[in-house]
Amino acid sequence: MTPSNLLIMAVANEKNDSMYSLINNHYSGLARTTPHDSEISQKIAKAFAYDDEDLGAIPAGANLGVSCGNPVVLGKLRQVSFDLNPQSTMKGETVVDLGCGAGFDIFQAANKIGETGKAIGIDMSEEMLARARLNAAKSSVTNVEFHQSRINSLPLPTESVDCVISNCVINLVPESDKPNVFSEIFRVLKAGGRVAISDILEKKPMGEAMRQDMGLLVGCISGASAVEDGYEKPAFKVRFSFSPLKDGHEPILLIAGYEDIAIIDKKHDLNIYKISEVFNIKDKPITSSTDSPAASPGCCCGNGKSLKKGDASRIAEIDFNEWVVYETKHPVEDPRWLSIKDTYAKVVRKLVSRNPTLGKPDPKKHHLESRIGASRCAIFTMNSNQIVTSQHYTSTSDIKEYFLRRRKAEEDGIHRTTNCIHILEGLDPEFVDVYGSCLMIDPIFFAKQDRNDVWDTLDLQDDYSDTELLPSLTDPDKYFRLKYREMRRFGPDFKHWRTVCSVTGSHLSAVGFQWKLDSIAALERKCSFWFRKPAHGSEGWDAIILCDPPLRRVFCAGGIIPQAMKSTPFQGGYLDFLGFDTLMKNSDGRFKEGPPRTCLFDDLCFYFENHSDVLFETEGASPAFVASVFLKKIVASHYMKVIDYFDIVLQRLSHIEYRLTRHIDWEGSASQWSEKQEQWSSLQLTLRRLTEYSADVQSILSSLQIPPTALDFPPRRPGISSSNSASASLASQLSTDRDFLAIHARLLTLKARVTSSMSWTQTLSSIMANRDALKEARRSVKEARNAKAFTIMGLVFIPLAYTSALFSMSGEYGPGEGRFWVYWAVALPMMILVSGAAWGLSRLDELGWRRWGKVKES
Ligand SMILES: C[S@@+](CC[C@H](N)C(=O)[O-])C[C@H]1O[C@@H](n2cnc3c(N)ncnc32)[C@H](O)[C@@H]1O
Repeated sequence: MTPSNLLIMAVANEKNDSMYSLINNHYSGLARTTPHDSEISQKIAKAFAYDDEDLGAIPAGANLGVSCGNPVVLGKLRQVSFDLNPQSTMKGETVVDLGCGAGFDIFQAANKIGETGKAIGIDMSEEMLARARLNAAKSSVTNVEFHQSRINSLPLPTESVDCVISNCVINLVPESDKPNVFSEIFRVLKAGGRVAISDILEKKPMGEAMRQDMGLLVGCISGASAVEDGYEKPAFKVRFSFSPLKDGHEPILLIAGYEDIAIIDKKHDLNIYKISEVFNIKDKPITSSTDSPAASPGCCCGNGKSLKKGDASRIAEIDFNEWVVYETKHPVEDPRWLSIKDTYAKVVRKLVSRNPTLGKPDPKKHHLESRIGASRCAIFTMNSNQIVTSQHYTSTSDIKEYFLRRRKAEEDGIHRTTNCIHILEGLDPEFVDVYGSCLMIDPIFFAKQDRNDVWDTLDLQDDYSDTELLPSLTDPDKYFRLKYREMRRFGPDFKHWRTVCSVTGSHLSAVGFQWKLDSIAALERKCSFWFRKPAHGSEGWDAIILCDPPLRRVFCAGGIIPQAMKSTPFQGGYLDFLGFDTLMKNSDGRFKEGPPRTCLFDDLCFYFENHSDVLFETEGASPAFVASVFLKKIVASHYMKVIDYFDIVLQRLSHIEYRLTRHIDWEGSASQWSEKQEQWSSLQLTLRRLTEYSADVQSILSSLQIPPTALDFPPRRPGISSSNSASASLASQLSTDRDFLAIHARLLTLKARVTSSMSWTQTLSSIMANRDALKEARRSVKEARNAKAFTIMGLVFIPLAYTSALFSMSGEYGPGEGRFWVYWAVALPMMILVSGAAWGLSRLDELGWRRWGKVKES
């Protein structure tokens, strides 16, 4: 290095050092002076979408009102689903907050990742960290730690972090050190890790004077990176740019190695921080006409008290909205949601343009528990002597070793003669990665298992795709996916409304009859089957059955913390699908215990471990049939349980049907009507569920390519062709075509019954409504008659009273006087006259109507 270069470096270092110490002093001052939970700090935090619940869950004194976004929400931090795999040594997520201040985001992150995770705060200010540590000591959090360091050189091991968050800090780093911040983020993140940053960008050039303004620097403004700025290092490339994205101009942060991470302009009102009295603009109203205070942002100047004299008034003059607050957008929107290691992730990435479904996970799953550590696998190996052995794995490195052994044997020229059925539970990206790359599986197989087919218009706009493959591409001997329901009974406090499995996001639906069936729900489940025949001339096939993990915890409507949920199979679970004769024959009269019915994985392992002998007896069965038969049988048996459940529901329904169709029951009080309404909505819900289930069975029929004629006996499925009658009988017992067709027919029958109940009810209710209207009309006529009688009485007495009033004035005409007869002589004719006139008028009226009616009729 030349002396002049050394000099330039020394000057730059000195400049940086003075900048660091200025910033350090400013924020250390804030750490000392900012009061606990001040109104301004709360207002600023709420302006960035932190709610009362968030703020209430962190220690008082952690929020200094110096944030400019909400990276905790953005980072979608998760708790590892530990209890799914008790043997797992996996821990909760590790999250690092760059420039953590007094721990505002760290404490929120710590709540989200749970006790087994770790939230690490990094800050260069000793006083900030002292305040953060004091906050930690005052609360009971055990999963946080703080380190004093600059963020351009992190004291953390490589690939040790799941999510990096940062809130309004990167702008404070001197320009020449900013690239190192990103290279450090890149270094410490694990493969598939996420970045969630909230910060400030320069939208239009701020000019040298502003750039040099130290008040603005410490206030997070003049250090903001400019749009179109970029940092490049061998390992990564960061670029902020206004790329013309789909809806106009959105800045985009490109970090090579992380894929493109879009950033969004939050359009917050940066002037909110001027609510501080320090800036002489007391409780200035929110300036943006479009933003409500709750949606408005802050600025990281804090309460302004630690600014130098003059800085505050100068800052108050500036309209900060000329710069933008940005946040990285959906950091998990990466093809690596499916697979995190480069080997398979590359395949996924290359196929995204062909199958957009692979690009993004199910949008409803962002909030779910981590799938990492939630998988297990069992491999059943069948050799040519019809002996089945099994190996169980919970660690990906063991599975990798298994595949390496297999490959080595093949390379050594040892021909594989064994067939393998791999039963996989859960979608741990590492498991997906090993299987995907070792067996070279189309990633659609895994992606489709992830989808829950629950959409809303926002998801559609965000380009999430769930389109099915063309039916001509489906081949049940290569791949199929079955959707089914597991009927389960829960505790009495079970609320089925918008309750989903915490790992798969699958829905728990009930029909809600509000009686005893209320604690029973149908848990949505899926399983996928994949099969590959060996290349021509060689032996040894592989089949994979991918199952959903069992239900252990759920998210209830609106909840963010998963709740443990215990359940038992409805009525003890499905009935065994192996016939009595088969059991007798294969167990020498000593019956083995039945399947555990805990989850599909356990049940499949049970059947492969205890009953694989029946598979070898189905002479002529295709390998794909052999590998998938237990799976299909269990799914069909679950459907039988669904039908059973709806049979019970229909028994209830027949009671309702009876009552709904008896007109006598419709006559009653308003409370009876509301009961009828409830019954009506139960009928509707039942119909909706049955429609859904029959559609699912319909799709099973088409994906298994079951012809409508399969009711013929013996089955004509290409899977089995046998000449031996015993084997043919077993084969017919194991065929699932008839099962699914019969299930479909029964669901349709149940549906038809509910539909007709609904139409009867509808007809009867309209008859009853008409009858009630008629009754009402009659009542009105009666009322009118009564009114008429009263009118007549009035007509009689009013003239009398009137005349009496006239004559009461003179004594001669008074009662008992000589001319009192005149009163009667006047009053009586007047009464007759008035009554006659009234009668005449009403007759005229009637005649008029009649004539008018006649005219109309003619
Ligand atoms: C605007 S505050 C944000 C604090 C916190 N993120 C929050 O939202 O409450 C900036 C924080 O970053 C710290 N900081 C600034 N530059 C830093 C750097 N280069 N390295 C480490 N910490 C830094 C400051 O000490 C301060 O605590």
